[in-house]
Amino acid sequence: MAAIPAAPILTLPPAAVPGDSLAHVDTPSLVLDLDAFESNLRAMQAWADRHGVNLRPHGKAHKCPEVARRQIALGARGICCQKVSEALPFVEAGIDDIHISNEVVGPAKLALLAQLARVARVSVCVDDAGNLVDISAAMVAAQAQVEVLVEVNVGQGRCGVSDAALVLALAQQAQTLPGVSFGGLQAYHGSVQHVRSHGERAAEAARAAQAAADYANHLRAAGIACDRITGAGTGSAEFDAASGVYTELQAGSYAFMDGDYGANDWSDALAFRNSLFLLTTVMSVPAADRAIVDAGLKSTTVECGLPRIAESVGLQYTAANDEHGVLKTPQAVSAMERSDAKSASDGAYSQGSGVRLGDKLRLIPSHVDPTFNLHDQLVTYRNGVVEGVWDIAARGLSR
Ligand SMILES: Cc1ncc(COP(=O)(O)O)c(C=O)c1O
Repeated sequence: MAAIPAAPILTLPPAAVPGDSLAHVDTPSLVLDLDAFESNLRAMQAWADRHGVNLRPHGKAHKCPEVARRQIALGARGICCQKVSEALPFVEAGIDDIHISNEVVGPAKLALLAQLARVARVSVCVDDAGNLVDISAAMVAAQAQVEVLVEVNVGQGRCGVSDAALVLALAQQAQTLPGVSFGGLQAYHGSVQHVRSHGERAAEAARAAQAAADYANHLRAAGIACDRITGAGTGSAEFDAASGVYTELQAGSYAFMDGDYGANDWSDALAFRNSLFLLTTVMSVPAADRAIVDAGLKSTTVECGLPRIAESVGLQYTAANDEHGVLKTPQAVSAMERSDAKSASDGAYSQGSGVRLGDKLRLIPSHVDPTFNLHDQLVTYRNGVVEGVWDIAARGLSR
């Protein structure tokens, strides 16, 4: 019998190498404008410094150790991770101060948390007495030590204790159990972050800060120090830093921004630039009023809306299929809205799209965190020229 010839080994070339122009980056690729990114990092760090609070940026936003390294180099006090597994690539990259801003439940995760706590300074959230006992046992078994922060519900209604007596009981329990120490409170309010009006956001953030202060004061009245109160996202950091309550900011998206945060009103005091884009190629121009790009649901998520096109090319991103994005002229969009889609797709409107096959466009993702999680690498550029390709090493690590 004739031998079957060995299949050739095909290798996927990198999407980009340093020195490439942005126009030559293969797509779809996440690309980072370094000037805007660095300006965002400096702005948030300066705001934290000015108000005497620590900045502990959230690694869940980007899952990229190279990003975290730059945040720490500017003064950030370690990072946050949302999941224990997510922390591993950051620790491997030498980041040794990590807050798990979440509850960790179950023997497998607690064993991993204990391993992490053996090699890094680690803190974790707790909102249940039984879970606290399990954390303590896991730490003792691994001869590790972890700081626990009692998570309090300051309005979001997600995890967290809503009763001051229970907060006190958990803090006291943490003071007596081996392998754990009581560090303070986590008081994060996610739904404040995207309140569009600056004034209303300030008011809601102030209510959350007051709730956090009330819990902390209840502990202090019982003789328990509460030196660390951590919380804040990109939308509330301006107010939380200045509140006199929070000692640590956990913001993550500020480094990149996205469509959802772009819809907030920002003050001149603290505002950020879009630094993250999804580079895409026009792969078909089947009608005068329609163009198709190669970035759909497998490259960007849409739970916060469709991506926007950064360049003004007279087109809107109107639909995300698995591997395709459908761009239409405003006239075609209005026709669609009038249920007149047939004439629109026939190209009956005189104003053409103005893009050509092979053109590259930058999309602004609507939600940065899950979009990062769809990509292995981040292509960084300055003035249109690629500087580096960073691994999004914690991508997919959600255990
Ligand atoms: C606990 C916690 N802290 C901080 C953040 C960071 O928020 P943002 O990326 O909006 O700045 C999040 C985001 O969901 C979060 O869940």
